[in-house]
Amino acid sequence: MTILLNSDRTLPINLFEYEKQATQHLSQMAFDYYSSGAGDEATLRDNQAAFARYKVRPRMLVDVSERDLTTSVLGYPLQLPLLIAPMAFQCLAHSDGEVATAKAAAAAGVGMVLSTLSTKSIEEVAAVSHQFQNTLQWFQLYIHKDRGLTRVMVERAYAAGYKALCVTVDAPILGRRERDKRNEFALPPGIQLANLALSGLNIPQEHQESGLLVYFAEQLDSSITWRDLEWLQSLSPLPLVLKGILRGDDATRAVECGAKAIVVSNHGGRQLDSAIASLDALSEIVEAVDSRLEVLLDGGIRRGIDILKAKALGARAVLLGRPILWGLAVDGEAGVAHVISLLKDEFDVAIALSGCAKLRDIDSSLIFKK
Ligand code: GLV
Repeated sequence: MTILLNSDRTLPINLFEYEKQATQHLSQMAFDYYSSGAGDEATLRDNQAAFARYKVRPRMLVDVSERDLTTSVLGYPLQLPLLIAPMAFQCLAHSDGEVATAKAAAAAGVGMVLSTLSTKSIEEVAAVSHQFQNTLQWFQLYIHKDRGLTRVMVERAYAAGYKALCVTVDAPILGRRERDKRNEFALPPGIQLANLALSGLNIPQEHQESGLLVYFAEQLDSSITWRDLEWLQSLSPLPLVLKGILRGDDATRAVECGAKAIVVSNHGGRQLDSAIASLDALSEIVEAVDSRLEVLLDGGIRRGIDILKAKALGARAVLLGRPILWGLAVDGEAGVAHVISLLKDEFDVAIALSGCAKLRDIDSSLIFKK
């Protein structure tokens, strides 16, 4: 019997097949926006290639009849070490946008980070968590030049029950994404910045340029430094998570500034092309922070074994980006849920066949770089 999805498509069996199917559901502009990277897209490719450079040394004759994939991040329980990365404009993929993503994440017991540039509001997405216990939702923050606007967004996120502020630190200006420039990226009619439209902000329609690049240049504050973190911290009791750290000395600085977690990330290869692959940056950072904060990683996760490799190098959990959008585009909430369950099943097999029954059994001796 063939299982069908949306009554006319074969159900994908891995995240790559989701990407292929998603092309049928997305406009060229939306697919290019989601899938592209900066410049020559070398960092985009290297994020995945970095995982392939590591090989596993599995342990044999270990009792793996009962396996436990659960963990916690900043004190919140997760069914597996996975959060959904912040990604803008999810209504480009499906009319339920970030609400569908949040429902699938909460039902699966994984975390979700909502983008400042979401197309469903802070409050609409937070409302999802009222149906579930212990939902881990963080709010990703871009700091606007208008500090009043930034303050209000932080206050809204706190009031709505988000558990941390995830500040993106690798985007003082937007990376040059040539496909978006070529497409003159803009939001189609009816899709807007749900958290900002009331303030009169939207992505401008530009000639020969990405509207998002222009939005960043006009609205976001490219003068942010470590000193501004103190101001951010004063706005709410929410713990700060810094996303986009790629060096040990910056990670140490994050500890000193009181951040509670960092995400080792190069923004999915969308900012500085030639930046180091996230996985390659991980060990130095884990060593530098010496357990003083939690280290997460995003960039290039496509298989369950990738989660094992990131954990073996010291990540507490990983964030998954683009494949979630492919699931959302193919089948809304059900598509996102299926992407998460495919990755979970692969991770379960990966730990079992590596001789691990629980996450604590995953250590650096399990992998080596070829
Ligand atoms: C938005 O945050 C983007 O990187 O496109």
